[in-house]
Amino acid sequence: MDWYLAGIEQLTLVRALKASFVAYPIVNALHIMSIGALLTSVWLMDLRILGAFRSLPYAAFIALLRRTAFAAFTGALLTGSLLFSVRAREYAAMPIFLAKMTLILLAGANFLTFMRRAKGGAEPAGGTVTILAVLSLVLWTSVLFAGRFIGFLN
Ligand code: HEM
Repeated sequence: MDWYLAGIEQLTLVRALKASFVAYPIVNALHIMSIGALLTSVWLMDLRILGAFRSLPYAAFIALLRRTAFAAFTGALLTGSLLFSVRAREYAAMPIFLAKMTLILLAGANFLTFMRRAKGGAEPAGGTVTILAVLSLVLWTSVLFAGRFIGFLN
């Protein structure tokens, strides 16, 4: 595993990212931008599911935010992978980084479960969907905190 991670760090693109004065901060800023869009769309979507903003049409509002969250997550995944590649061996050995990845997997599984249940597009009436929405808020917010802690625990 170590040789594989060391190989990632030696890729031409990764070495260029490390060597450039501007590239790493730009990728970092794009990561933060993606995270901001992701957390905003997830919070608005989950609050709507939990009964807030009732004047807004449920199906259209959720569909817009779901697409926004998906695009934002793709951005976070791409930029996060680039940030990771620069110090792959170090991050892979950090419990807080591994905790963040586990939380992302749990939040992703929660999101897919919600998508399966919400197929009809009708407004849900409590029950499992409420639990999924609360879990989603807790998990994505925990990912945010874990991400920020990486910089302080290394
Ligand atoms: C999907 C795959 C992701 C990977 C591989 C990844 C990886 C990383 C890495 C390597 C860093 C730099 C840590 C450091 O040295 O300070 C970072 C920063 C961060 N990440 Fe991610 N990340 C991902 C997704 C996310 C998501 C979904 C969130 C939030 C919901 C998030 C939140 C953060 C935060 C808050 C920071 C600190 C930014 C800063 O203050 O400079 N990450 N991420």
